[in-house]
Amino acid sequence: MNLPRRGSYGIDAPYAPAVIAAIIVVFAVLAIVAHNPGMLVSMAFMLAVLGSYLYTTLRGKHVVWAGLLARAKLRGDERILDLGCGRGAVLLLAAKHLSTGRAVGVDLWRSVDQSGNSIEATQRNAATEGVADRIDLHTGDMTALPFDDRSFDVVVSSLAVHNIGTPAGRDQAIAEAVRVLRPGGRLMLADIRATRRYQDRLAALGMLDVARRGLGWRFWWGGPWAATHLVTATKPAAAWSDAPTELDENDSR
Ligand SMILES: C[S@@+](CC[C@H](N)C(=O)[O-])C[C@H]1O[C@@H](n2cnc3c(N)ncnc32)[C@H](O)[C@@H]1O
Repeated sequence: MNLPRRGSYGIDAPYAPAVIAAIIVVFAVLAIVAHNPGMLVSMAFMLAVLGSYLYTTLRGKHVVWAGLLARAKLRGDERILDLGCGRGAVLLLAAKHLSTGRAVGVDLWRSVDQSGNSIEATQRNAATEGVADRIDLHTGDMTALPFDDRSFDVVVSSLAVHNIGTPAGRDQAIAEAVRVLRPGGRLMLADIRATRRYQDRLAALGMLDVARRGLGWRFWWGGPWAATHLVTATKPAAAWSDAPTELDENDSR
């Protein structure tokens, strides 16, 4: 997919590639000092991990989300919320599909989760991408969203919910996403690790068409063992209850 991106979107979890690079250096030193050619195999493996990571964060996730949003067939008048929007990789792609709608990003702007993360960086990217007139940015926690119930047509999130430190916190973020969706509204959530649990939570909250699928090699984030999955769901058009779920609270996935 031809995807010109004019903004600067940083590197996700920048300590991760730094740690991988340090491991590669250690393997290289051991290969030379200990005359251990086996270390070259380990080094090649870690180089592949580093390549996969950097590709995903710099290019792959942008290409994948461009495709997901194109296939979402947005009308252009939607209110779209991006949970943990960071420097706007997904938010600003979504904004390009809007005419009268708004793309709203919420974030805590944590630089441990994305290099150079700040509301100013995202505003600059919005201007560079030509969508500053279609976006709103909020500083806020996705476990306690500063938005009314049923105020968004679409909620998206990319590689953000796993940054919440506890299963209970991640459950709360899922519940908040459902709360702010309009009846008939759609959720598209890409993440690593706990995506089966997100799926279970969404089903328990009464969401419809709950599905989960892998997003392929472009979104591996460090090899197939760190694959990203997309969880999708639709809020029922009929009345929706805020009733608590029956999932086991001790489930720590
Ligand atoms: C790995 S970055 C991904 C950013 C963006 N979605 C992307 O794909 O480029 C994760 C983002 O989640 C944000 N974040 C982490 N915990 C959060 C929370 N509880 N509420 C809101 N944002 C949060 C971080 O500040 C960071 O911007």
